[in-house]
Amino acid sequence: MGRIAYVNGRFVPHADAVVHIEDRGYQLADAVYEVWALFDGKLADGEGHFVRLERSLHELAIRMPMSRRALTLVLREAVRRNRVKEGMVYLQVSRGVAKRDHAFPSPEVPPAVVITVSRVDRAASELRAAQGVGVITTPENRWGRCDIKTVGLLPNALAKQKAREVGAVEAWFVDELGLVTEGASSNAWIVDQDGVLRTRDTNANILRGITRATLFDVIRDAGLKLEERPFSPEEARSAREAFITGAGTLVLPVVSVDGKPVGEGVAGPVAQRLRRLYIERAKDRAI
Ligand code: PDD
Repeated sequence: MGRIAYVNGRFVPHADAVVHIEDRGYQLADAVYEVWALFDGKLADGEGHFVRLERSLHELAIRMPMSRRALTLVLREAVRRNRVKEGMVYLQVSRGVAKRDHAFPSPEVPPAVVITVSRVDRAASELRAAQGVGVITTPENRWGRCDIKTVGLLPNALAKQKAREVGAVEAWFVDELGLVTEGASSNAWIVDQDGVLRTRDTNANILRGITRATLFDVIRDAGLKLEERPFSPEEARSAREAFITGAGTLVLPVVSVDGKPVGEGVAGPVAQRLRRLYIERAKDRAI
């Protein structure tokens, strides 16, 4: 059975799933998105992603396309129709379809909704996590509202491509003070020389990661120390460990920054333990 997508009220074969050429997401990046990891067919960290979706939409004055309850049912139906147990669900909501004009359509048009489901090879992901990955750094060049999860991801896409060209998996943006903001599609962390877990505070221009938030609870329950404080690439290299978090990567050990090893240059024990604990917790919170 082939993949099925949801487009504006209909389930259609993935290959035939299209949006209108004047969808404002397509022309103006006037759209937001969410990504859920799927564990055993359930939406990991279910509620957290809904709360952020509603916030992103609110910040851009786009209507929630349907109630949270209805949207949950549609997402679940998309998962069911794709028969995916381990994977990811992508949801995009744009301001809708209207004659091209930078200002909002008047009268208002219905928001446009797209959902896709994809399979993830968890065995391959676990292998990658056991080995750890490299990241590169790149100057921060994004807009000032990275707390809103918009599809305006061109700087992120360019940064990720730069990483891929040198065999790295993620690019960390570095601000004008020389401090890491976050990754192109993940939040950035270190375990510093004192064993303290450090990630940037959300007053900075970064996405408030749901994986990050759940990991805070995991860290507290494990009795580990946590500080919301930025770090530089040099501090990451001289840290004991580094890792990234996100719905796509979960908790993924980082073993090098710009080609130079972090700590011993191997996936660290704290990051690996937090990955296991996070997956357990996310499964508990799956809906
Ligand atoms: N990205 N920072 C950025 C810029 C992101 O794009 C993401 C997620 C995160 C982590 O957020 P969360 O833990 O809520 O997934 C941080 C998704 C997975 C993506 O773009 O595919």
